[in-house]
Amino acid sequence: MKILITGGAGYIGSHTCVELLNKNNELIIVDNLSNSKYEAIKRIKQISGKEVKFYHTDILNEIEMDIIFQENNIEAVIHFAGSKAVGESCQIPLEYYKNNVTGSIKLFQMMQKHNVKKLVFSSSATVYGLNDNVPFKEEFPLSATNPYGRTKLMIEEILRDLYSSDNFWQISLLRYFNPVGAHPSGLLGEDPQGIPNNLMPFISQVAVGKLEKLRIFGNDYPTKDGTGVRDYIHVVDLAKGHLKALEKLREGHGCQPYNLGSGEGNSVLEVIQAFEEASNKKIPYEIVERRAGDIATSFADPSKANSKLEWKTKKTLLEMCADSWNWQRKNPKRY
Ligand code: NAD
Ligand code: UD1
Repeated sequence: MKILITGGAGYIGSHTCVELLNKNNELIIVDNLSNSKYEAIKRIKQISGKEVKFYHTDILNEIEMDIIFQENNIEAVIHFAGSKAVGESCQIPLEYYKNNVTGSIKLFQMMQKHNVKKLVFSSSATVYGLNDNVPFKEEFPLSATNPYGRTKLMIEEILRDLYSSDNFWQISLLRYFNPVGAHPSGLLGEDPQGIPNNLMPFISQVAVGKLEKLRIFGNDYPTKDGTGVRDYIHVVDLAKGHLKALEKLREGHGCQPYNLGSGEGNSVLEVIQAFEEASNKKIPYEIVERRAGDIATSFADPSKANSKLEWKTKKTLLEMCADSWNWQRKNPKRY
């Protein structure tokens, strides 16, 4: 299949490209490299031993995107491109609405113009808002607590309206839980700019000695040990979920959301323990105030993806930590 991947040089996109190439798909990657490096594209080729077509382009650029659609006989799109930092989205909301919402609308218009109506969209568990009623099911009411989350919710709504207007569209809304880990080769991984916001990259940088200690945001939550509980999912398992979602689009299923998570919750202390075991390094930490906007517990009910997509997570928390550590060790200065 000939697939356009927006944001394919990024963390989840690059891992998905490798899995797609392993199954002999033809890829056209569009990325403006605003949060990634060209090196990731080289490494996708190195791991897979296959060529990809890369355009250093912004999805907001209609002229270039039109040419890309004209030049390539695109059959489906996987749309990763977007900005993803929650804190930053509160500081520069207009940039987030422009990049995520306007960028997506322009992409969907271009798809419509070129009659490409198969789409896999990167949504997020953030669309369940402050709901603490675990496990999260796809039919739960949706809400958002910050501009980033609202962009995901808006794009989901836009896609539901688009499908209602034209049933030829086939759309998967993949609600990722907490993607962590890296490619087992140590060649691809998460490459955050500056000090990481998320738990696993922060722990990895403490382990490698770049950061002094982890700050645990609260130990007074109503959870097993008081620290926040999340559904961590290995990025390679997540990448494989995209292949299953694409297969489903070919069968025709309308516009469907799917939770991509393991269905299990782990606390911050459990992640630290697993990371220490995987890396043989001590992770110093201190307990600090809760982080605004955090919920106590979030984990998926993945039964819809398990049954309809025939997809299930395979990798354990220990493997996630081992691969994150392997990536961090091999790339101490990022890509
Ligand atoms: P990432 O930042 O590593 O990848 C996004 C890629 O999109 C980057 O390579 C960036 O350069 C590119 N990009 C951004 N704006 C663009 C534009 N206007 N035109 C072209 N390229 C553009 O992020 P990621 O972690 O790989 O996330 C991928 C998608 O999954 C995002 O939409 C994100 O919101 C969503 N998501 C991520 C997580 C997570 O924890 N990483 C969780 C839920 C959902
Ligand atoms: C965060 C975002 C969410 C986004 C997701 C993936 C917020 C409020 N939520 O989710 O919208 O979809 O990332 O990008 O930012 N923790 C610490 N210390 C740290 C970092 C995290 O104790 O330095 C704790 C958090 O309180 C949480 C857990 O670790 O309990 C996981 O945090 P994180 O990796 O940031 O993911 P989420 O908060 O689930």
